[in-house]
Amino acid sequence: MANSPHGGILKDLVARDAPRHSELQEEARNLGDIFLTERQLCDLELILNGGFSPLEGFMTEKDYISVRDTLRLEPVHGQRQGTLFPMPITLDVSKEDIAKLGLKEGARVALRDPRDDAALAILTVSDIYTPDKHLEAENVMGADDLAHPAVAYLHNSVKEFYVGGRVEAIAAPTHYDYVPLRFTPSELRAHFHKLAWRKVVAFQTRNPMHRAHRELTVRAARQRRANVLIHPVVGLTKPGDVDHYTRVRAYQALMPSYPEGMAHLALLPLAMRMAGPREAVWHAIIRKNFGATHFIVGRDHAGPGKNSQGKDFYGPYDAQELVTQFKDELSIEMVPFQAMTYLPGTDEYQPVDEVPKGTVTADISGTELRKRLRTGASIPDWFSYTGVVKVLRDSYPPRPKQGFTILISGLHNSGKDTIARALQVTLQQQGSRSVSLLLGEELRGDLDPKINRAITPEQKHINLQRIAFVASELTKAGAAVIAAPVAPYEKSRQAIRKIVNGNFFLVHVATPLEWCEKVDRRGLYKRARSGELKNLTGVDDVYEAPTDADLVCDLRNDTVPEIVHSIIMLLEGENLI
Ligand code: ADX
Repeated sequence: MANSPHGGILKDLVARDAPRHSELQEEARNLGDIFLTERQLCDLELILNGGFSPLEGFMTEKDYISVRDTLRLEPVHGQRQGTLFPMPITLDVSKEDIAKLGLKEGARVALRDPRDDAALAILTVSDIYTPDKHLEAENVMGADDLAHPAVAYLHNSVKEFYVGGRVEAIAAPTHYDYVPLRFTPSELRAHFHKLAWRKVVAFQTRNPMHRAHRELTVRAARQRRANVLIHPVVGLTKPGDVDHYTRVRAYQALMPSYPEGMAHLALLPLAMRMAGPREAVWHAIIRKNFGATHFIVGRDHAGPGKNSQGKDFYGPYDAQELVTQFKDELSIEMVPFQAMTYLPGTDEYQPVDEVPKGTVTADISGTELRKRLRTGASIPDWFSYTGVVKVLRDSYPPRPKQGFTILISGLHNSGKDTIARALQVTLQQQGSRSVSLLLGEELRGDLDPKINRAITPEQKHINLQRIAFVASELTKAGAAVIAAPVAPYEKSRQAIRKIVNGNFFLVHVATPLEWCEKVDRRGLYKRARSGELKNLTGVDDVYEAPTDADLVCDLRNDTVPEIVHSIIMLLEGENLI
């Protein structure tokens, strides 16, 4: 028997509104549209499938304030106090949206999936209100501090008005990844019923799982004589987390390490807020709606990391405390754990509070693990499983297998193209990576001597941004990218550095203008001097010399092979070749 939903009834709105599906679909065609953000889309999916029961829409101002200040919805139908719900679930819109869509009480609007424009629901507006974002941050996240990812999101991305109102379901968002692993609350409940699982302990996670997590979940199952639901978040998690594709492959690799029939893997399209204690209560409610009877809360549950003062936002067991406080009305039993640690003497994991004093323990921190993945260093069997490590290594190749971008910037005829070509063949000769050469002129065509088109500084910048986009995509795919546009502006070069984000090197070919002009076989400079060609860098447009180049060279003093050798040494020093 699955646990009863929060508030008593599972609000499976997709099932509830199925009989009116075509009618609503037809109506949506003639309504104004809100194209949801990624976070709103996650929220709506869980409103529609009942994961957020008893919610039936986005919170009105009364519910929002009540949740923000008391962790409860407004009392309804003579309730003495409102139903426990610790997280505001709100639909933010801009002033322009309100005007454009004519949003006011009673208005109806279609909520659409931004990926395919599909109408997912119709919202009937109850109210439109202005949130106090500072107070929301203080009360919900515990601090109005931009180091908290949800506070940063609130101030930087959330629009200035919230729209409250109930929704009617047209369809759940369509997913194309890991479809067999996605279960709605109704489906998961049916699944537990089919397997005759009476007790289910749910495990929330947003990280790859290793042996500590497997031991923790098995221990919880043993203690409570329950089965295990591995219920990882695949919506939005903490910025910088391992992407969900990699994580799901890692979970799949881990599942066979459970005794046959003990555990089940299902994915949760939740947008986490990293709100620690409040988040743990929210997670418990969600898991209860998905039918679990027990819920694991370990060390630093949904922790956002350090605040701007370098201190943890929440204590490591604050989440357990808050869940305990609401124990009676949660009706999903928490299984608390202290940090699990490895005991090499007995080759087992134990919670630290159960480890006898003086026992030797071992741990590998997240930072250490990332370092080992980066360098290709070994990861011991006691820490993880071969299959899990392989998945992570495939997604996070060691440096010699990672892509990189070298931006070679300098004036026309400075020698940058010759250096780029020589570097290209040198890297091709080495093998092991595909090499892409992006020459400014070839990509643009604007500087063709036959075309008398002036390129404005703005166009040069836009062109650089295009090169940056292509370079970053190729770098991500593991290629060696050599880009040799003039790249005269600091802001354009910084933009490339930012978008490539990682293995990026700037080579400044500082050959002076007089030399470049002297060897000008194509007449570029001549045409610029005569006024025929406008905005030529060095003549009537500026070249802002970089101050952050990894290598500066000058064709008057250095030969091309010498420069290529220096670049190779630079890459070698970074462990990339
Ligand atoms: S979380 O943001 O979803 O909480 P994570 O996936 O790292 O992050 O943790 C999932 C759950 O496992 C949380 O309840 C967390 O407290 C618990 N947990 C993770 N690692 C450990 C550990 N080494 N010891 C005890 N609990 C842990």
